[in-house]
Amino acid sequence: MNLKTRTLQWDGTCLRLLDQRKLPEKEEYFICRNDSDVAVGIRDMIVRGAPAIGASAAFGYYLGTKRLMMDEKLKGHELIEKMNDVKKEIGSTRPTAVNLFWALERMEKIFIKNVDNPCLLGLLEKEAYDISADDIRINKTMGKYGAELLNDGDCVLTHCNAGALATVDYGTALGVIRAAIESGKKIRVFADETRPYLQGARLTAWELMKDKIDVTVITDNMAGWVMKLGKINAVIVGADRIAANGDVANKIGTYMVAVLARKHNIPFYVAAPVSTIDIKTKCGSEIPIEERSHDEVRFCGGREITPAGVKIFNPAFDVTDNDLISAIITERGILRQPYSESIGKLFID
Ligand code: MRU
Repeated sequence: MNLKTRTLQWDGTCLRLLDQRKLPEKEEYFICRNDSDVAVGIRDMIVRGAPAIGASAAFGYYLGTKRLMMDEKLKGHELIEKMNDVKKEIGSTRPTAVNLFWALERMEKIFIKNVDNPCLLGLLEKEAYDISADDIRINKTMGKYGAELLNDGDCVLTHCNAGALATVDYGTALGVIRAAIESGKKIRVFADETRPYLQGARLTAWELMKDKIDVTVITDNMAGWVMKLGKINAVIVGADRIAANGDVANKIGTYMVAVLARKHNIPFYVAAPVSTIDIKTKCGSEIPIEERSHDEVRFCGGREITPAGVKIFNPAFDVTDNDLISAIITERGILRQPYSESIGKLFID
């Protein structure tokens, strides 16, 4: 995506987040001047998607340190104590995407090691910058591996938005599609609308159209029929957290798509950076699943669509069992079953 509309931009003082709540109607930026602004940006889904959340959190951590050191003139123990609160505030925004905690921990390591170093702020800013620059490089590498799995002429179904908007740029699942197209293959995309937040209809369709990639939006309940009609050759989705056994938490509805893909003998691929693998979480049932406001289900297009007082359940993610996943595409290569082994190997130093 061109720099003008990049998901997040660091200008040396502020973090500018493309306000994804307003897409596709408006392209506006939300300016984060301090750590609390970044927490709001993540909690309110101004920025969303696991890698983009992680990169934003890293800049939030830097802005928090800067505020405490420059405005509140804290140092030493007091600074360490208050930085725990900053980490807690940013870490409490969204529980499922592990990249949030991964990025905060990476920042905290630099902070603790250099707390008395006069260059602390510079080192933290550099770390946050590296996390975001690495994300683009990782997505491009992942894309190259994943592109090998697609054939010229394939039509790919994707769920939610795992694209440039969910990362610093290029995307994970959509990065694979971009890389396949860049290698000369003709690829078409079906995007599930992804109720209730409509990331597929609003965001995936928007960014693919901007890149002139052939995209067709369907409602979530059409996926099975579209597969039965023989229109889909592969499914590719992103991930918010991958457990050590290969179970994958991703946007609600992903599990349903994986079951349908198995029924129709369609390969189901997950594309995610290694930072999305949570080796400490043994299996999917241990992954915390975020529940969001009932209003997201109650309202559609600004109109209340349910009878007053009806009960609502709104889990934002689900878990796809590893046996439904044909391969996990990472920047370190393509992982296959048994995932406990292929994932385990990535974490042996
Ligand atoms: O609630 P969201 O929009 O943050 O959920 C995003 C997803 O589920 C994505 O598929 C996932 O984060 C992978 S993004 C590369």
